[in-house]
Amino acid sequence: MKILISGIKPTGHIHLGNYLGAVKNWVDLQNKYSCSFFIADLHSLTMKISAQELKQQTFDLVVDLLAMGIDPKKSIFFRQSDVWGHAELSWIFNCLIPVAELERMTQFKDESARQPDNVNAGLLTYPALQAADILLYRAQYVPVGHDQIQHLELSRVIARKFNQRYQKFFPEVQPVLSDSPRLMSLNNPQKKMSKSLGEASYIAIRDKREIIQAKIKKAVTDEQGVKNLLELYSYFGDKKKHSQMTKDFSTGQLMNVKLKEELSLAIIQFLEPIQKKIKELEKNPSRVNKILKDGAKKAQKIADKNLKEVRKMIGVD
Ligand code: TYM
Repeated sequence: MKILISGIKPTGHIHLGNYLGAVKNWVDLQNKYSCSFFIADLHSLTMKISAQELKQQTFDLVVDLLAMGIDPKKSIFFRQSDVWGHAELSWIFNCLIPVAELERMTQFKDESARQPDNVNAGLLTYPALQAADILLYRAQYVPVGHDQIQHLELSRVIARKFNQRYQKFFPEVQPVLSDSPRLMSLNNPQKKMSKSLGEASYIAIRDKREIIQAKIKKAVTDEQGVKNLLELYSYFGDKKKHSQMTKDFSTGQLMNVKLKEELSLAIIQFLEPIQKKIKELEKNPSRVNKILKDGAKKAQKIADKNLKEVRKMIGVD
């Protein structure tokens, strides 16, 4: 079976952009590929985050992903930092990739601008760790949102460089995009929905009814904004109502208040069963932690085997 992998950072709250751009696809693809999904906690260290926050947010994210349908019986589900090979392989990749390539990365530029007092080396070499996350398992398919495409291109460059310098070992990484690879922000429809644009930008998976209603009520309704709300409605709402509202929009007859009410309702209904599962899972933290431990064991096994071969190829076995 074809090998597929993806990860998500445990920083802030997981939101509908993460869900529609990536996680929804992960859940569906579990039946078609040999899948691994991980919590990218080492990547979160590029931001200022306390030990306690990182621990809590990792736990919350594991719970959220399980509640959304990641199934540890079908997929290997683990925490990046539990498998040592990610860090080791990323060092090897760091020695292959020119600094200039890393400096070109949009995410590096954005993040450096966002946290000018914390432009750490990890922010720069972030894509080498991401390439290691993927290639440690010799995975070829990576379901992500649009913002990760540039990093995946760099993973391809890194694999090619390794294969040329040593021997052909790593596959060419390919992104797998969802129907909604770039969901836009509620408060700034020109920009993608993102934790870094503040809470008003996104609907978090854990948001309560009143919060969802309030955020959507405040959502910007210029032309692009309404288009985004309609797009969101198309994923969660009623098909017939969606096509009627789209028609009304094109003839200038759409009432934004009605769209917002319908959309809030649809999202609340969609999130209700997920939030119920979250509550159930939270009652049993030892079960959640055991899922991660079991996943790490399986991942470590594959990682060890591949890393052993890499060590031989580069002369450090
Ligand atoms: P992260 O944690 O920022 O986001 C997780 C996933 O959600 C997608 N996403 C979106 N998709 C559509 N619309 C949006 N507004 C939106 N916002 C976020 C992201 O594209 C991503 O797929 N560097 C990665 C994590 C990572 C990784 C990896 C991914 C680390 N190693 C290896 C794949 C393979 C990140 O920060 O994603």
